[in-house]
Amino acid sequence: MSKDDFLGSAAAPRQSRRGFLAAAGGLAASTLVQPALAGGKVENQPPNVPEWTRSLGEGAGVRPYGKPSKFEKDVIRRDVEWLTVSRESSVSFSPLHELEGIITPNGLCFERHHGGIAEIDPADHRLMIHGLVDRPLILTLDELKRYPRVNRIHFMECAANSGMEWRGSQLNGCQFTHGMIHCVQYTGVSLRTLLEEAGLKSSGKWLLVEGADAAAMDRSLPIEKALDDCIIAYKMNGEALYPEQGYPMRLVVPGWQGNLWVKWLRRIKVGDQPWQTREETSKYTDLLPSGKARRFTWVMDAKSVITSPSPQAPIRHGKGFTIVSGLAWSGHGKVKRVDVSLDGGRNWWPTRLDGPVLDKALTRFYYEFDWNGEPLLLQSRAQDETGYVQPTKAELRNLRGYNSIYHNNGIQTWHVQANGEVENVEVA
Ligand code: MTE
Repeated sequence: MSKDDFLGSAAAPRQSRRGFLAAAGGLAASTLVQPALAGGKVENQPPNVPEWTRSLGEGAGVRPYGKPSKFEKDVIRRDVEWLTVSRESSVSFSPLHELEGIITPNGLCFERHHGGIAEIDPADHRLMIHGLVDRPLILTLDELKRYPRVNRIHFMECAANSGMEWRGSQLNGCQFTHGMIHCVQYTGVSLRTLLEEAGLKSSGKWLLVEGADAAAMDRSLPIEKALDDCIIAYKMNGEALYPEQGYPMRLVVPGWQGNLWVKWLRRIKVGDQPWQTREETSKYTDLLPSGKARRFTWVMDAKSVITSPSPQAPIRHGKGFTIVSGLAWSGHGKVKRVDVSLDGGRNWWPTRLDGPVLDKALTRFYYEFDWNGEPLLLQSRAQDETGYVQPTKAELRNLRGYNSIYHNNGIQTWHVQANGEVENVEVA
């Protein structure tokens, strides 16, 4: 697709507040006259009294654990059928196009398992810390909860997020192109606290972190990161971790690739060198054009995506005041700014960051403008506090070639058609 086809929309102005209010007023007036136009049953709409106002609803306690309205049934994790041969070693993606703010609800956090979901009885679970320590520890969940607690909001992105897009645009929806990411508030114990309690020896330079699932997933973690900001978490968004996310405890490695965030954590061994596990030799390496592979590429570089409009969230209201909503993040710290382009990267406009802008957390951005109804090539570009700017896909491929799977943080393009439908494309 050529950028030249979209020059007409390059000068699209930002919508003024005054213009927005006028548009909203116009909408309200037309809705009052022709309620059926917006859908739904006319008898439930003004000036009528709707059916749910004419009888009592269910009482308190009827739903002991709340769940979303039945009208939100399509807001779910989804998989890509052809991607894996089994469900046990597979992935389901977060519906980013349906979410706002920066927190992912627990039931919508993407899942990536290598050996299925371990259903662990916490009474039988122990966390062992051993190796180069003076006092090896074996802790129950209750004992872990007696150590001082920390609460931190962090994103977690699988290194393979956007991996299917390395060779060209493929999947139609940000749920599938970018949905291997979630952001929750973790409660747990700082890993530093536990290593100090165990009496970390000065010869201890690396940790082996291992899960209790059928995959017994294990990775080597350098001691500098372990002592910096890692957490052993047992709560997410205030409640116990969900089994899919590693109940009863998981490792949180802020800003680093998801593979290191070992779920169902059962063992931490302190050693003096990396273990060279399967997950850091055969997998989670990046094959370069030279034939060599990058290894231990832990940090997730700055990245962003427009979540709406997007293929699963087309523009349904026609031209006029339009809200572009998106997410940005960086494993190196805070997001500093995000710009959007309406014309495939020719012109860039600053966005408004709204809500908390936190270290190694998702950041929400908005760009409001008056859409003239012409096709758009929508892009977003994140910059983090280190000054690093998210690259184009072409820049990324020039450096790393076409054979990578992991660490695709290239700029995403959505083609918005005149009818509001959106598709995943790449610009030349
Ligand atoms: N830990 C264990 N024990 N087993 C696993 O399969 N998958 C890893 C990591 N930790 C995995 C694991 C990978 S590849 C990712 S991306 C994240 O967990 C996924 O975490 P989530 O399911 O909470 O999204």
